[in-house]
Amino acid sequence: MNERKLNLSRLKGKIIAIDGPAGSGKSTTAKILAARLGYSYLDTGAMYRALTYFALKNNISPSDSTKLSALAKKLPIEFKTDADVNRVFINGEDVTEPIRSPEVTRHVSEIAAHQGVRKAMVAKQKQLGKNGSIVAEGRDTTTVVFPDADLKVYLSASVKERAGRRLLDMTKMGVSTTLEEQMADIQKRDAHDSQRRHSPLKKAKDAFTVDTTDMTIEDQVEYIISLMRSVLK
Ligand code: DC
Repeated sequence: MNERKLNLSRLKGKIIAIDGPAGSGKSTTAKILAARLGYSYLDTGAMYRALTYFALKNNISPSDSTKLSALAKKLPIEFKTDADVNRVFINGEDVTEPIRSPEVTRHVSEIAAHQGVRKAMVAKQKQLGKNGSIVAEGRDTTTVVFPDADLKVYLSASVKERAGRRLLDMTKMGVSTTLEEQMADIQKRDAHDSQRRHSPLKKAKDAFTVDTTDMTIEDQVEYIISLMRSVLK
């Protein structure tokens, strides 16, 4: 097994940051990688999703930057791992499934674009990573949250491939949708996430790019582990 081959004492305490667009395979890859390394896993997108879920439930408009920024500062978002599932809680309520709903997915990019929202979330994320031994993934973990990460990876894949992966996830969740709908949704989110004014999605200069279009999740994990072996001192 790969984890036995890793010199874990040498790899202790590191910060691995992975960014990329929706459906590029970040979450699954980061989760498996964290488990193999005995690191914690930080899904920064889940934090923006949790905020979006709570805002929509409480009739706060996705354009209300003032209210959303104040909410982002005080909303207690917690992660707990249960039987390998990374569960998300707000005020003790398990919101793991509802934060993946199509409604939350439709509004999350707009909410994540507000400067005050980002500032509050980034502060929480830095705090969660302050002791290292973490695999963080999102849109700005390599550029803004952990600019000094020990290893930075940018995952990409074609729009069709990413939409196909989302279609599979949605179908498993019992949501009826089509490849065309998912392609349109992904293109809209790509545009929103990479063209926004504050912390847009972009590749960090010192990040390794991995095109995952023809890779399995296992290939991606193996590849990042091989990068760690060659890059980390
Ligand atoms: O990775 P995801 O699809 O669950 O992310 C949901 C949204 O959150 C995504 O459209 C953009 C936003 N996001 C962000 O702006 N910054 C991050 N670090 C992570 C996610």
